This record gives sequence, structure tokens and C-alpha cells, in this order.
Amino acid sequence: MRTGKGLIVAAALALVLAPGLYGADGKAVFTGKCLECHGASGAGGKVMPAKYAVRQWQRFFGENRHARKLDISSRFTQEELDAVLEYLSNHAADSEKPEAAGLR
Ligand code: HEC
Repeated sequence: MRTGKGLIVAAALALVLAPGLYGADGKAVFTGKCLECHGASGAGGKVMPAKYAVRQWQRFFGENRHARKLDISSRFTQEELDAVLEYLSNHAADSEKPEAAGLR
């Protein structure tokens, strides 16, 4: 039963290592979709995780601030938004690993 055990370990690892518990990968959604408008030359101005602190990101998403300027809700599923918020929070200005990366 060596192989069987290996599979169980692999499955458990995959669960632990999966990006968040959401179906979406926050970093991929951020770089793929948010940066469409917020990359170096996008219309929304430069945005990166380290631009704001965790609480500011939470407020931005919680109040759906985009809607004031431009409704982006049809472009993202709730899962994707949750995953992006998680990614941004993990790399926010006051996080352990602030990230300015992802810009192109
Ligand atoms: C369809 C284009 C578009 C997409 C996609 C988009 N945004 Fe925006 N975003 C804008 C525009 C336009 C503004 C308003 C800019 C202004 O204030 O003039 C804005 C404003 C913002 C602001 C506030 C202004 C600033 O620079 O701090 C943040 C933060 C932000 N967006 C983050 C995001 C995140 C995170 C995502 C992905 C979930 C995203 N945006 C997806 C167009 C977009």
C-alpha cells in the first residue's frame, strides 16, 4: 500500500498548498485582470499590493469603491474578488511581505 499512502500525502499537500481555499488564484487574477487597467499604462492608474495597508484593502473591497467610478463587477466572480483581496492583504504595505511586483 505504499502507493496509496503516497497519494493520500500528495492530496493532503495539494490541499495545504492550494492558493487559499478558494477556487481562484488571487495573484493570477490580479496580474491577469486587475492589471489590465492598473498596469504601468492602464487607465485606472498604477495599483500594487503594497500601495495600501490591509485595512484599506478590506475597506476598498467591502464598500465596492470601484462602483463609484466604474462598475467592474461583471468582470469578476465573487470568488475571484475574495482571492484577490486575500492576495493583496498578504502583500499589503503593512504585511510581512509587501509586494510591489506584478506591475508590467
Ligand atoms: C475595467 C478596468 C478596471 C479593472 C478591471 C479594475 N479597475 Fe481598479 N479602477 C479602474 C478605474 C477607472 C479606477 C478609477 C481611477 C480614478 O480614481 O480615477 C479604478 C480605481 C481603483 C482603485 C483606487 C484608485 C487607486 O489607484 O488607488 C484601486 C485600489 C483599484 N482600482 C484596484 C483594483 C483591483 C484590485 C482590481 C482587480 C480586482 C481592479 N482595480 C480592476 C479601472 C479598473
